[in-house]
Formats: sequence, C-alpha cells, structure tokens
Amino acid sequence: MEKRKGILLAGGTGTRLYPITMGISKQLLPIYDKPMVYYPLSILMLSGIREIAIITTPNDKNQYMELLGDGSQWGISLTFIVQPKPEGLAQAFILAEDFLNGSKSALILGDNIFHGDGIRDLLKQANDSDFGASIFGYHVSDPERYGVVEFDKSNNVISIIEKPKIPPSNYAVVGLYFLDETAPKRAKALKPSKRGELEITSLLNSYLNDNSLTINKMNRGYAWLDTGTHESLLDAGNFVKTLQKRQGLQIGSPDIVAFENDWISKSELKIRSEKFSKNAYGDYLKAID
Ligand code: TTP
Repeated sequence: MEKRKGILLAGGTGTRLYPITMGISKQLLPIYDKPMVYYPLSILMLSGIREIAIITTPNDKNQYMELLGDGSQWGISLTFIVQPKPEGLAQAFILAEDFLNGSKSALILGDNIFHGDGIRDLLKQANDSDFGASIFGYHVSDPERYGVVEFDKSNNVISIIEKPKIPPSNYAVVGLYFLDETAPKRAKALKPSKRGELEITSLLNSYLNDNSLTINKMNRGYAWLDTGTHESLLDAGNFVKTLQKRQGLQIGSPDIVAFENDWISKSELKIRSEKFSKNAYGDYLKAID
C-alpha cells in the first residue's frame, strides 16, 4: 500500500490579520523565532509523513519555495501547488489529486499549532488508522468560531456543524485531518457553501454519513492554537517563547524532527545549524548530539 502523503494549506487571504497580511502570506509570519509554516510542517513530519504538498496562492508560491526548498535538507520531498482562489479547505483534495495519486492523506492547516507530550504517538496512531477519516476534537471556550462536534447521549458523533450560533458542545474539530484515498472523489461531489467555499465540514460529514469517521479527543494535556487573529498570533508567539525559554527545548522545528526521525544525519544537521549561527536556534541545533 502507498504511504500516506501530506497536504499543508498555506493559501487563504488572512483578512482577519489585515493590514499585516495585505503584503505577506499569513503562514510566513513569525511565531516567535520561526516562520508559522514550520510548525504544521513539523507536525506532518512527526506523523512520519515524508511526501508533502504545500498549497499556496499564485502570488506567494515563490516565497514558500525560497523558504522551504525541495525539502531535501530535512529528508522529505516538497511539492508546491497553487490554489488560484481561496475556494475552501476541501478544495485542497481536488488540487492535490494528482499529487496524491490514490494515496491516503493528512491535511493540516498552515495556521494551526499543536504541542504536547506524547503527540508523536497520537499522530502515529492516526497515521496508521485504516478508518475513512480520523480527526481530533479539542475542548475550547469559543466553539462557535470552528467546526463543532455534536455528540449523542452515548458520546457518539451525530454531526459536525460549521460555526454554529449555538454550539452543541465545546469540542471544536482541529485543523488536522487524516483521510483515506476517497477524499478527492468526495471533495469533487461537494457543492460550495453560502460563502462560496468547499467546506471541510461537508467533506467530514460525507465520511460520517458512511459511518467511516472517527474522532479522537485531544485532551487538555495538548495545546492547540490557531493564529488567525492579531491576539491569537501574539499569544502563540508568547506561548512558544515561554516554553522554549523555560525548558530549553524547541517547538516546531523541522530540523530537529528530521534528525530525530533519522531522516538526516548529524553532519547534515550541523550544516543547517551553520545557517543560523548568529542566533539561539542555531546554537540549539549545534549542541544536539
Ligand atoms: P482561514 O483562517 O479560515 O482563512 P484565511 O487564512 O483566509 O483567513 P481570514 O479568515 O482571516 O480571511 O483558513 C485556515 C487555513 O487554511 C489558513 O492557514 C489558510 C488556509 N486556506 C487555504 O489555503 N485556502 C483556502 O481556500 C482557505 C479558505 C484557507
């Protein structure tokens, strides 16, 4: 069986972050000491995924290529796909159909940050899952901003509702979806929503209707941050800075994940560290044995 491939969504308009994102793609903005896109990329790599497509707007593709290269510095392979217009998250599966070439996939939103002890195991489990769709629910204080899970009395999922005015639970669906090889076909069958987008929620409900969706709760021991507003962007930066400073460990580093996965050698890591010799990130990489 073909290995699961990754899709990282780094398009969109970022209107909630205007005026910042009038001149730069949201996912290139810094989260403390790294570009935002490093964090979701590290999560796909932690899941064990090595073939990844980055979806960007037509304008931003070159900047992402310059930042990330072909992935060989991390022992992975990166493909860049343009989304001509921001017509929804589920469109990713149509745009990436040729890239996927019949494989299962994991889609991650470029502005989502995950962190927590044991996350590698949680991700590996989802990666190994044979279920149609394997997704995560996270308890939040403001579920109305997200796709929200509706449970019945026995804790079975009844539906997923996009940005409900009256949320049926506090469990939001996080921006990381492990889907089987039917995702492109299902995405093509969707109708655009009122806001003109192919909604990921509709795609997930298509799996749910076929009884092939499973939701894992990502418990309170994990942090799930999204960075789409001025406040949450700053909060995410402060979160990373606080933890890194206190623990002396890095969050969201593709260099470290690549090394820990044995995808690059010590000498390759050293070459990377030399690029950052003027800062603490470089010092950290240099000191790894
Ligand atoms: P959103 O935060 O929903 O949209 P956005 O980034 O355009 O921001 P805003 O609401 O402020 O205008 O998108 C979630 C993620 O998915 C984000 O990383 C951008 C990406 N995205 C795409 O790549 N293509 C799309 O068509 C959409 C809607 C989002």
